[in-house]
Amino acid sequence: MTNSISIKPSKVIQLGHSTLRKVAAPVENITHNTTQQLIENMLVTVKNAGGVGIAAPQINVSQRIFIMCSKPNNRYPDAPLMEPTAIINPKILSKSTDTEKDWEGCLSVPAIRGLVPRYRSIQVEYYDKEGVKHNSHYSGFIARIFQHELDHLDGITFVDRVESTRDLFSEEEWPNK
Ligand code: NI
Repeated sequence: MTNSISIKPSKVIQLGHSTLRKVAAPVENITHNTTQQLIENMLVTVKNAGGVGIAAPQINVSQRIFIMCSKPNNRYPDAPLMEPTAIINPKILSKSTDTEKDWEGCLSVPAIRGLVPRYRSIQVEYYDKEGVKHNSHYSGFIARIFQHELDHLDGITFVDRVESTRDLFSEEEWPNK
């Protein structure tokens, strides 16, 4: 095991960097030390940045891993507080027919918020950091984080998902500030 106290936050790459536009590769060996170290790096980096999620491509590693760490915030006071969870080789198995629009931001798109349509609920599968396969159902805010982070593994950012560029706001002008 790695000692997380010794790990420094990684640099979060920004919109325009080519890695954010790549389709990331599946993780071949989840329990290998290099994968475990990557997960530790991501955990330290997302905590340092105060985010609710981060994907490996955001620290310039093109592999299919992301962290979800929902916590209550102004916009989602009822958002569940979840232990930071590593999600590896994720897939959406099925999704609700209905979508809902809500605000998103991204550590790789600083100072911008967007009103993004997402499926309200999704059935997913993924592997955890021990390599155990999970089948889970998510709705609301957690489903939104999952879809946002999964997009990062496919080279997509939330600015690609807004229906209109008029749904993009500077944080300065954001109505929910
Ligand atoms: Ni993001």
